[in-house]
Amino acid sequence: MHLITLRDWSSKAVEEIIDGTLEIKKSPEDYEFCVEGKSLAMIFQKTSTRTRLSFEVAMTQLGGHAVYMDWRSTNLVLADLGDETKSISGYVDGIMARVLKNSELQAMTQASSVPVINGCDEKYHPCQIIADLATIKEKKGKLKGLKLAYIGVHNNICNSLIEGCTKAGVNITTVTPVVNEASVDESLVEEAKGTGLYHKSLDVKAAVEDADVVYTDTWVDMEFFLDSKFKKEKEKRIKTMLPYQVNKKLLAGNGDALIMHDMPIHRGYEISADIIDSPNSVIYTQSENRLHSAKSILKKLLG
Ligand code: CP
Repeated sequence: MHLITLRDWSSKAVEEIIDGTLEIKKSPEDYEFCVEGKSLAMIFQKTSTRTRLSFEVAMTQLGGHAVYMDWRSTNLVLADLGDETKSISGYVDGIMARVLKNSELQAMTQASSVPVINGCDEKYHPCQIIADLATIKEKKGKLKGLKLAYIGVHNNICNSLIEGCTKAGVNITTVTPVVNEASVDESLVEEAKGTGLYHKSLDVKAAVEDADVVYTDTWVDMEFFLDSKFKKEKEKRIKTMLPYQVNKKLLAGNGDALIMHDMPIHRGYEISADIIDSPNSVIYTQSENRLHSAKSILKKLLG
């Protein structure tokens, strides 16, 4: 079993992994030897704070061992991806990879004899959304019937939120005036529309007004944020997206909604500083829950 996109998992499996996250958070001592003697290769093509830390610490706390591999310092840069993956899977019990292209992850799952976990690609970020849904359940006591408004660029987080929310019975409205072309997955959107739980809108006020959760994300993907070649597009996006910033004015009609962001945050762009640090913000709990959800994922796939 792999974790490439939540779409491949049943609603029951998603629910179990969320409940597992909260159970492990409550009693971490019960899971100390869950993956004893097992190893995880963690392969990164891109930068990371939370994904690397959560999986590495999770493996240690579950009695296993994680090996960090920077893609650029391995022979993945010069050899056939399938050959290298087949070789890597002979050493370890699982592979977690953050890559630029989902097609690379697909190639890895074909070659690997052990589970492959998507640590974020251009289309999906399932591990983040498991932590997010666990955070909502922790704070609200339930998921079914809640309303989430995602305000931002339609990107990999947006795709995985749509998948995760529709699997978990959460109504999701996306307000996305800009679309990351690389993240487009028409069939995902069509399937989600069929559940009756997914809606698209450009009326940001209405979307936020009755939302239980307001979620935002960066307007520019991490690999482009400091890239001078992307400067013009970045400026264009900032201009288009600023009216959709999550701030006090936008939230004026809704004082109860949880505020979420998967991080890294660009303060003063997608979200104002006062909202990040407001009482309704669960952003840092979300971040911490990456650790507990990584354990839940590892327990299911490697345990
Ligand atoms: N949210 C998230 O995946 O964080 P990192 O990019 O720091 O891993």
